[in-house]
Amino acid sequence: RIAGPSVLVLFGVTGDLARKKLLPAIYDLANRGMLPPGFGLVGFARRDWEHQDFAVQAYEAVREHARTPFREDVWRQLSEGVRFVQGELDDDDAFDRLADTVRELDAARGTGGNYAFYLSLPPKLFPTVVKQLKRSGLAEPPEAGPEGVRPWRRVVIEKPFGHDLHSAQELNAVVDDVFPPSSVFRIDHYLGKETVQNILALRFANTLFEPLWNRGYVDHVQITMAEDIGVGGRAGYYDGIGAARDVIQNHLLQLLALVAMEEPISYDADAIRNEKEKVLAAVSLPEDLETGTARGQYATGWQGGAAVRGYLEEDGIPADSVTETYAALKLAVNTRRWAGVPFYLRTGKRLGRRVTEVALVFQAAPQQLFPRSDISELGQNALVLRIQPDEGVTLRFGSKVPGASMEVRDVSMDFAYGQSFTEASPEAYERLILDVLIGDPPLFPRQEEVELSWRILDPVEEFWAKEGRPEQYGSGTWGPESAELLLARDGRQWRRP
Ligand code: BG6
Repeated sequence: RIAGPSVLVLFGVTGDLARKKLLPAIYDLANRGMLPPGFGLVGFARRDWEHQDFAVQAYEAVREHARTPFREDVWRQLSEGVRFVQGELDDDDAFDRLADTVRELDAARGTGGNYAFYLSLPPKLFPTVVKQLKRSGLAEPPEAGPEGVRPWRRVVIEKPFGHDLHSAQELNAVVDDVFPPSSVFRIDHYLGKETVQNILALRFANTLFEPLWNRGYVDHVQITMAEDIGVGGRAGYYDGIGAARDVIQNHLLQLLALVAMEEPISYDADAIRNEKEKVLAAVSLPEDLETGTARGQYATGWQGGAAVRGYLEEDGIPADSVTETYAALKLAVNTRRWAGVPFYLRTGKRLGRRVTEVALVFQAAPQQLFPRSDISELGQNALVLRIQPDEGVTLRFGSKVPGASMEVRDVSMDFAYGQSFTEASPEAYERLILDVLIGDPPLFPRQEEVELSWRILDPVEEFWAKEGRPEQYGSGTWGPESAELLLARDGRQWRRP
């Protein structure tokens, strides 16, 4: 799969995401031979840069963060198609200059009039940009040429898509007015991860798992996204958003959808999205949000042997902030497959270690013939989809401890990407940018999915908003006490990955 001739216009080029992920991903695609010679990259930002300054910035980002080795010839070819436009997002002149630059690049590189606009910007700025793209004529592709091919225009929108259901709908109305749904690519970078794409392969390319993948065998499901980092330099974005809006609304509910959905009739974008939407529509919250949810804020503590600051002492965070840095929810999926099986979701910053996993914890054997060793973890079988960083799948089950007794202890059977595949996995953004340029939509959520996810989260946010300050938890621990209680009340416990 190789992208065709095209221009990628990147808004927010001076931001963290562009430097750490997007620019390196573009280089990696070029290096793997997946970008055509007719490819151009245009950066747009307020900074007073010339084309050359942006090229230098991109070069540094690539040298620091690209996955593939640096090759002078690849970089030269790519950088000849790099342009920069300085301006404010609400400045008509700046967008007219952008249009001129894109057209000049189009003529110089032969990009076929195909343009993708990547909005790596805070969501409140999306409407301004989208309206400017319309006003400047950039959003509307020209009619088909003599060969009958009509150039395309696409818009790529980073999460968070809105702040709640209402704002997500408002935002969508603005985008929808300018771009048809098939031209809108909503990024949830978790869907670009190999291990996340593997969920459907594991379930539907095999016969082994699916017969057990239901309420007849599964006791409950745990979805964990733990980070060891704090809020870092992202205070301005994070405060007022919090853990649930930042990652549960998107990444964790997408993981839930992939784990809980029915088999799609084909690997086709609409077929997959239909099934995901059905399952998201079947999700419900517990009646009592006090006991069915938990949230926390990291306090000072230790991480990697160093003392770290609490959230309220971080630069740019108000001392009375009530933003949660940890969130856990208990959800029900009201389908025939899952009725009565709780899905526990948790995420947090400054936790014990960085790990994302989905664990299907199976029911205990109907009778216990053998004594369990007390170092057994849950004493129940578990299938753990290790999303990162240790990519793979683990099956946990009981096994006799060698020796004279019949004691049983949990052991693991492992599949590790590093051992089974020689090629390193591409970065999520590499895959997603390629899919945008090719126009391949399965890995991008539709508006309906975004709205269904906000429908799930909105009541929780409203409830928390009345609750005041979140519970504190020590940095480097596994989160607040209330999260432990959330499972303990059900006679269960979180895994310690
Ligand atoms: C982003 C969140 O979507 O995902 C960040 O905004 C989070 O807060 C990041 O740190 C984690 O991504 P990954 O790929 O490292 O798990």
